Amino acid sequence: MTSTFETVGVVGLGTMGAGIAESFARAGLGVIGVEAGPEALARGRGHLEGSVGRAVAKGRLTEAESAEILGRVTLTTSLEDLADADLVIEAVPEVMEFKRALFTDLDRVCKPSAVLATNTSSLSVTAIAACTTRPGRVVGMHFFNPAPVMRLVEVIHTLLTEEGLAEEVAGLARRLGKSPVTVGDRAGFVVNRLLLPYLNHAAVLLESGLATRDGIDTAMRLGAGLPMGPFALLDLIGLDTSYEVMSVLFQESRDRRHAPAPILRELVSAGLLGRKTGGGFHTAADDGRDAARPPAGKSSAGTVAILGEDGDDFGDRLTGAGFKIVPVEDAEVVVALSSTPVIELAATLPHPERLVGLHLAGDRVAEVASTVLTAPGVAQAVEGLVRVTGRVPVPCRDRAEFVVDALLYPYLNDAVRMYESGYACADDIDTAMRLGCGYPAGPFETLDRLGLETVRDGLRALYAEYREPYLAPAPLLERLVAAGVRSFRDLP
Ligand SMILES: NC(=O)c1ccc[n+]([C@@H]2O[C@H](COP(=O)([O-])OP(=O)(O)OC[C@H]3O[C@@H](n4cnc5c(N)ncnc54)[C@H](O)[C@@H]3O)[C@@H](O)[C@H]2O)c1
Repeated sequence: MTSTFETVGVVGLGTMGAGIAESFARAGLGVIGVEAGPEALARGRGHLEGSVGRAVAKGRLTEAESAEILGRVTLTTSLEDLADADLVIEAVPEVMEFKRALFTDLDRVCKPSAVLATNTSSLSVTAIAACTTRPGRVVGMHFFNPAPVMRLVEVIHTLLTEEGLAEEVAGLARRLGKSPVTVGDRAGFVVNRLLLPYLNHAAVLLESGLATRDGIDTAMRLGAGLPMGPFALLDLIGLDTSYEVMSVLFQESRDRRHAPAPILRELVSAGLLGRKTGGGFHTAADDGRDAARPPAGKSSAGTVAILGEDGDDFGDRLTGAGFKIVPVEDAEVVVALSSTPVIELAATLPHPERLVGLHLAGDRVAEVASTVLTAPGVAQAVEGLVRVTGRVPVPCRDRAEFVVDALLYPYLNDAVRMYESGYACADDIDTAMRLGCGYPAGPFETLDRLGLETVRDGLRALYAEYREPYLAPAPLLERLVAAGVRSFRDLP
């Protein structure tokens, strides 16, 4: 059955539904927006008018365009008004019983040819489809927040979806100016399946005492070039939502990587859900604090020794700032530039308590690793030296891959496993992560930049350190490195 989409229904005009209705109306489709009752309908109208009004204020829409867009939307509290819609998308709360009850009603009310779509982030589209008499015409259409702005739409087909329907729905998404990625029905789809485990891993490492909340946020923002640190992003998404998504991922995979970090449950139980409650990992009071902008560079270190390769530039900058670089025996502070833990090196020195490891992450961050032998005050002195060189110091423990790479490499490994499973191709995964998360590059572009061998070696080191099976390099990554393949794009 070939579908034409001219009139669409949107059920639930909350955060997502109002934005989805606006996106359809902007593309010239007629929209019927349905809410549960008069009060909710008034709220929905407010969301819609507010969002279009902001676009006018920013000069992105004219008054006339805004009137046309709003004129295409009919608002109602009656599902029966959806009888002639070509496609209905629901954006009611993420509760399976709500969705199933709604789809049973939609199936009764809507014409047999209508496509029924869900905007669910984590529930099984298959289970939702199965409660209708038309499972072949049910898909997922996962928009991102804010829907009028974010270009990604994940289109989800199930084993029951009619041949060709997902492509038709992807075509509809393109009409909205979106970049759809079409995948099967697996918990988390592409974006949440890769993003949430990375965020959860950050919480696990925080609990292990690897580094502080602000240190990890700063490391990932300035060291990995991501738009937000993991804890700021968890607060934005909501810790309750994050906990739920992790639980759904875990139920499907039974993989320890997907087990929600205990600190998430604790914060949720305490009612600290993130920005929406004024506090989560960050509180409203400390959100203005910027750990990435420390006071101007000063250090209590007098004499410094530098060990390790690639230390010349760091040493030159210190010398330029008036610090004296001396042999190890004479130094009050010893800095070992290293991409691996430095405790073994420290143990060979006459004064191991004077040594810290330094790992340069990108151009703006230096991870300052204290060992179990490092004396109090030494790391702080080195943090001062780091600031003198124009970098932001991130204090951490002396662990494999320190902070940035310890979080980045397992995320890249997850992307390789996703590719290897045949769930999505490298281009789609890259597109989804760039457009869905605002990342500067997708995981396969990042793998190309860092080098497959470097990432493979880093994962081997992480696995050797933590012995978590999910840290072992994906078999495909091992094979590609062994075969001398440099990029996933080189694969046939
Ligand atoms: N918020 C996000 O960032 C985001 C992103 C992508 C997907 N999603 C998904 O979108 C869906 C909606 O999330 P949201 O954040 O917009 O929720 P929300 O709570 O902001 O909005 C839900 C709306 O549904 C309405 N509603 C409830 N039952 C209804 C019914 N029977 N008929 C009509 N309206 C009804 C509510 O009145 C409310 O306005 C969820 O499945 C969620 O997982 C959310």
